[in-house]
Amino acid sequence: MAVNMSRWFICLLLIFKECRASTHWVVTEEGKIQTQLDSTFSLKRPYDLLALMEQEKRAIEVEELKQKLIIQKEEIDRREDKETNLEGKIYATDEDCVAAEKPLTDFDLYASTVVPFPPYKKFGDEFTEYAETMDFDIIFKKPNCSEIVDLDFSMHAFEHLSSVRDRQNLTMTAEIGLHHAVTTVENIQLYGHLVYEFLQKNKTSWILFDMAAYYWRIHGDAAAAIECHSKSSALFSKRI
Ligand SMILES: *[C@@H]1O[C@H](CO)[C@@H](O)[C@H](O)[C@H]1NC(C)=O
Ligand SMILES: *[C@@H]1O[C@H](CO)[C@@H](O)[C@H](O)[C@H]1NC(C)=O
Ligand SMILES: *[C@@H]1O[C@H](CO)[C@@H](O)[C@H](O)[C@H]1NC(C)=O
Repeated sequence: MAVNMSRWFICLLLIFKECRASTHWVVTEEGKIQTQLDSTFSLKRPYDLLALMEQEKRAIEVEELKQKLIIQKEEIDRREDKETNLEGKIYATDEDCVAAEKPLTDFDLYASTVVPFPPYKKFGDEFTEYAETMDFDIIFKKPNCSEIVDLDFSMHAFEHLSSVRDRQNLTMTAEIGLHHAVTTVENIQLYGHLVYEFLQKNKTSWILFDMAAYYWRIHGDAAAAIECHSKSSALFSKRI
């Protein structure tokens, strides 16, 4: 008996596999009452009285919108017929396109991210003070994190991650936009030199390693940036 019942049930399921509810019915010319699914009067929330009362208004709005779109499409078609190479012409003549020099799709729209830790501010002031006493005839040094300090193995350096371990293989575009987010020093080479000088005085400052990483990110050197970030992270985990 149970087997029979379930067989019937499966048959019913097969028959009514597609089940749809309709809230819009029309009387056809032969007098048949039929559902109308792709209808502006179709209600998603049939229990919503207010929606039902607004139906007429919405239908008019939809119709108006449709007419507007038809007019726009006709206009576009007409212009396309006349103009060939419309895109090229706009790029060559539009003031903004000329200023941009390349299409929007060729721009790297990836936004840099930076977490400005409060100690940056303190270093900002110290940097300015130090820079005032400097002899500018020197060749600016670069904060090379692998030369500054050798650290014991630390899980927090993330060397066990292949993207960190094989950092020499990584490429990146220079994150020029980071410059003014991380320092008020206008000359980025001078900024690098200041980070270098300060690192000579304190080789265990996680914040200075972090600042060095930003220097390399601004220059688009992924491997050097990861080297600095990884040391910064290892030092941060050791701080007391
Ligand atoms: C840092 O120094 C090491 C060892 O001298 C060198 O191999 C590496 O290329 C330097 N890194 C940068 C980013 O200049
Ligand atoms: C990184 O580059 C080196 C040399 O070009 C290559 O031997 C190695 O397999 C690369 N690593 C990865 C993870 O692609
Ligand atoms: C070095 O930097 C760390 C972290 O910013 C700080 O805790 C420490 O006091 C600094 N050491 C010296 C000698 O300035």
